[in-house]
Amino acid sequence: SKEKIALFTIFGGTGDLAQRKLYPSLFKLYQKGYLQEHFAVIGTARRPWTNEHYHGVITDSLASLNADPAMVAKFADHFYYQSHDVTDAQHYITLKKLSEKLDAQYGLEGNRIFYLAMAPNFFGTIAQHLRSENILTPNGFNRVIIEKPFGHDFESAKELNDQLTATFNEDQIYRIDHYLGKEMIQNISAIRFGNNIWESLWNNRYISNIQVTLSEKLGVEERAVYYDNSGALRDMVQNHILQILSLLTMDQPVEFTEKDIDVEKVKALRSLRPLKPEEVATNFVRGQYGADGDVQAYRNEDKINPDSNTDSFVAGKIMIDNFRWSGVPFYVRTGKRLADKFTRIDVVFKRPIVNIFNHDDVRANDDADAHLAPNVLTINVEPTEGVELQMNAKNVGQGFATTPVKLNFAHDSAATANSPEAYERLLHDALNGDATNFTHWKEVAYSWKFVDVIQKYWDEHTPDFPNYRPGSMGPTASDELLAKDGHEWVYKS
Ligand code: BG6
Repeated sequence: SKEKIALFTIFGGTGDLAQRKLYPSLFKLYQKGYLQEHFAVIGTARRPWTNEHYHGVITDSLASLNADPAMVAKFADHFYYQSHDVTDAQHYITLKKLSEKLDAQYGLEGNRIFYLAMAPNFFGTIAQHLRSENILTPNGFNRVIIEKPFGHDFESAKELNDQLTATFNEDQIYRIDHYLGKEMIQNISAIRFGNNIWESLWNNRYISNIQVTLSEKLGVEERAVYYDNSGALRDMVQNHILQILSLLTMDQPVEFTEKDIDVEKVKALRSLRPLKPEEVATNFVRGQYGADGDVQAYRNEDKINPDSNTDSFVAGKIMIDNFRWSGVPFYVRTGKRLADKFTRIDVVFKRPIVNIFNHDDVRANDDADAHLAPNVLTINVEPTEGVELQMNAKNVGQGFATTPVKLNFAHDSAATANSPEAYERLLHDALNGDATNFTHWKEVAYSWKFVDVIQKYWDEHTPDFPNYRPGSMGPTASDELLAKDGHEWVYKS
């Protein structure tokens, strides 16, 4: 049977993440039969809610799914609310009793998943109490799922990790990076290792540069307090972008398993060329949006420090010092209040060395127009999910001029509508004991070490903010970063 058996204990059960992502994802797993009779959920938080009120919250969180109300009610019956102060040992005793009761009632076989949907400064306390109050079971599995941010630099990440590993082994820790749950991020490996034409060319002899863009249209919204202490570099580059980069650049794993993939990702991340402080300014660009029409400047947003020097945009050039990638720049960028909401990866191949078409005397001509356009393989991650290849072909008709054309594949909307959302996939993986699409400690560690140098330099030098217009693709320095190398962003707004 595909049924998974477990007790979920969600710390932060009244929170935004639980309501927006976790409850709907658990419900989808229920609809698909991965969760049936043998599961229960304990939601905890400080508020004194009743089970009845909690069921109402669960039901409301599923409203947009338009599901059968009878099914929703049956699902909600598996949920129990327990008011809980994470620092109070007594409360864990109550939690333990409830866990044991539900374990017996639902036949949960001692399988436990602890979901820490809370601020990371509580992770240590929770983990420690789970151990000291014996809430971990000896007979089933014990897994902990944690949310970002995993530290705000290497030191704090290490401290957090030490606190968790005092209770859990690395293979019991599931660190969420929800980008790893996205269909097209998972597809990177299939595209690369499933196609000889790509893997044969996937190196510095054929690839000119690779661009990763995670563009957001919205501002900081309701997460202002967190974001203002973080900024785009920590919020998006340390985790999502470097994870994507590791998948794009790693060598072929021996087998397509969690262990083997982790080995290759760690090697890729270890090979990132560390920046020296004096190299930060020439390789990384930071930005913060100003006001434009109805859109407020970052510094005027609700709960943002009016003198904030936090980066709402970052673009960077990253080099990887290994045999495969030596000399190939990876340009990455992400930001709030940009032109549009999308994620894409552009793999820009080297141009044909000589253009024998289009110009009479190309060899004598240094003009850029004399070159053929490069092949570009674009992996569209969101909202379109597919791949696109730009290639040169002959213009229709007399004469012989060439023009770039596009081969285009996109998953049809019916297929993607049924495809699981990131959180649904990741919860399913955690139930299965498969942490392939979660981040492992060494990956986190190398990512922070790379990012820390940049952040430190920025913290020590005052930026000239604001420096970009909402609705643009960031400050002009981002374009100049590529122009210096004779490149340009493939996507321009
Ligand atoms: C989160 C960041 O990790 O990713 C947010 O903290 C960001 O700031 C979000 O908005 C973007 O995720 P997605 O799935 O909407 O691209």
